[in-house]
Amino acid sequence: MTTRPQATRRTVLSAAAVTPFAAPLLRPGHPAYAGAPNILKPLPPERFHDYGTNAEMRWDSVDPARYYTAQRDLFVRNHTRTPTIDPATYALRVFGDGLEERRSQDDAHVLTLRDLRRLPRHTRTTVLECTGNGRSFFGSQQDQTVSGTPWKLGSVGTVRWEGVRLRTVLRRLGLSPRAVSVMATGLDDEFVSGETNYGRVRRPFSLEKALDDAILAWGANGQDLLPDHGFPLRLVLPGWIGIASIKWLGSLEVSKREQTSPWNTTFYRMTGGDHPADSPPLTLNPVRSAWELPWEATLEAGTTTTLTGRSWSGAGPIRRVDVSLDGGGTWQRADVVDPAGRAPRSGAGDSGAGWTRWTVRWRRPRAGTYELLARATDRSGRTQPDVTPFNSQGYFFDAVVRHPVTVA
Ligand code: MTE
Repeated sequence: MTTRPQATRRTVLSAAAVTPFAAPLLRPGHPAYAGAPNILKPLPPERFHDYGTNAEMRWDSVDPARYYTAQRDLFVRNHTRTPTIDPATYALRVFGDGLEERRSQDDAHVLTLRDLRRLPRHTRTTVLECTGNGRSFFGSQQDQTVSGTPWKLGSVGTVRWEGVRLRTVLRRLGLSPRAVSVMATGLDDEFVSGETNYGRVRRPFSLEKALDDAILAWGANGQDLLPDHGFPLRLVLPGWIGIASIKWLGSLEVSKREQTSPWNTTFYRMTGGDHPADSPPLTLNPVRSAWELPWEATLEAGTTTTLTGRSWSGAGPIRRVDVSLDGGGTWQRADVVDPAGRAPRSGAGDSGAGWTRWTVRWRRPRAGTYELLARATDRSGRTQPDVTPFNSQGYFFDAVVRHPVTVA
């Protein structure tokens, strides 16, 4: 048996003295910048709907036999564009008055990838999902106007992350007993919308989450992160909305105060409708389901088909899935394939959960037009409503989606 060398607090701290701060190679003003695409990986139309800085996975491209979402198939949500970061000079800066030895930004602990990779390795499966997944259905299903990318249900994927637990890093650096929050900031460009420059993409989260299951991930499904998904290092906050998992992680500020950024005060909280003005920042993702079918699918009349789909929740594995093949007239239980939210044969050592695949046989349907419905319930009893309460930014569309199918 081999044991991995483990960094002591001393080796983690000593890195601070030697490693320079890494900036993305391609910055505004660089001659190559103007023509650089927003997303670097290929987005073939048979696998993606491309919205420019964002792209969603097409559910009809999902292979029912594959549990994990390959990075090449994973949705991309960028506020600006994917930066190119040199891993050789990359470093994560950790500072703040919530550290045992208070550190200013200029005097931050500076951790290279090598420093981080020397720490005990952690792998965990999670669902990564955008808060606005399903947003287009506010319009098409509820006749409501909301702002934001009109995702169908493809801004989601299940990934097995590799990295180090954030608590391992923070404990080695030393925490003040009064620390309460951590602000994660990305190295991508500052986000400008209309007249407002919101600064770098950043969002605070509780120290409780940091010490519970937060991951600093450098790998996904056994490979290095792709640039579009945060290379060389991203934060992953399991179960929480996608914006919480800051890509191209540049710094962590540990503070004794509750911190704020536009990403928890202006964006990613409920606004409009019946929501109070002081609605809290969103954290845990709701329950959602999707059929692995083209949108407006066509199936053959009189032929028995095995239909497939997946359901997921920010609060852990799915307990049951009910489906209707006749627009909600009658319901039946779907056959659940992955009850623990785990890939078959994924083995021990992964405390996380991904989505749950399910199947249902549709016996010799007659010609006509249909709506297929799927409603999942997770282990904590959370389920999907018929209607999602309106909010102006179109978050958390968790209502049962009416999937149109023509049988001919
Ligand atoms: N991190 C940075 N630095 N910049 C971003 O634009 N987008 C966030 C989050 N982390 C974002 C970010 C949002 S809104 C989502 S949904 C996820 O990343 C998407 O992760 P993915 O593009 O790897 O699928």
